[in-house]
Amino acid sequence: MNFTGKNVLITGGSRGIGKATALAFAKAGAMVGINYKSNTEKAKETLDLLKGEGHKLFQYNISSREDQQALIQDFIKVYGKLDILVNNAGISIPHDIDDVDFDDWSRAWEQTLQTNLLAPANLSYLAAKEMISTGGGRIVNVSSRGAFRGEPTKPAYGASKAALNAMSQSLAKRLAPYQIYVGAVAPGFTETDMGAKTLTPVERENLLRESPFKRMAQPEEVAHAVLFLASEGAAYSSGAIIDVNGASYLRS
Ligand SMILES: NC(=O)c1ccc[n+]([C@@H]2O[C@H](COP(=O)([O-])OP(=O)(O)OC[C@H]3O[C@@H](n4cnc5c(N)ncnc54)[C@H](OP(=O)(O)O)[C@@H]3O)[C@@H](O)[C@H]2O)c1
Repeated sequence: MNFTGKNVLITGGSRGIGKATALAFAKAGAMVGINYKSNTEKAKETLDLLKGEGHKLFQYNISSREDQQALIQDFIKVYGKLDILVNNAGISIPHDIDDVDFDDWSRAWEQTLQTNLLAPANLSYLAAKEMISTGGGRIVNVSSRGAFRGEPTKPAYGASKAALNAMSQSLAKRLAPYQIYVGAVAPGFTETDMGAKTLTPVERENLLRESPFKRMAQPEEVAHAVLFLASEGAAYSSGAIIDVNGASYLRS
């Protein structure tokens, strides 16, 4: 896949799946804007690893409406055009109904939906307006296997990703006439800070047992699917949700 001449913005591009995606796009010739929230040290480390010149960091909190607008404006100011938006940044807050009080429960729902659903929705709006004015583009949303199989101790997370899938499909239909193609990638557990931090050793053991591969996904394997959906030949795959879960959860 060749992305020479394409400008890509990746939310949460400093660590985990976003980092692997940034590295892959840069290797394929793209100009990469890495958005992150607070860990500047990690973001700089990732930036230094990118192949080629001209890549840049964009520190904005995508949960804030002001920052969403500032992020897209800043990106356009730097690169002139946005070809590909990857809505990757996401959070996962445990809120088991047996363990949390009502305040913690409702806060977990609000924060999760703010970052995992409303931010991609607003960034997609802002990006699509730019893409319409320049003749087209690609939006790839990083969803989760949890959207399909349920997240018993993090129901807001599962709900946010199911809604993200629905949003991808609705926008794929609405934006096709503008040559804007929208897709989603739904990873299973992936070796990242999020994957590692949110699991107890027992949960990790159980998850590995579910996998016929007996392992988690590597971030690079998720990045590969993101690049496919963003590639030139994938226009007719608009609306697709690609599973990257090592056959651990098969849906019909
Ligand atoms: N890991 C898994 O097992 C797994 C499985 C299925 C789906 N996913 C999805 O894949 C995506 C990436 O997950 P990951 O595991 O790679 O995550 P991660 O390792 O926890 O990294 C999260 C990234 O998102 C950024 N971020 C978080 N909140 C942000 C905000 N409000 N504004 C801007 N940036 C923000 C972080 O920046 P800072 O470092 O500055 O905070 C970091 O770059 C998420 O949408 C997640 O739901 C992950």
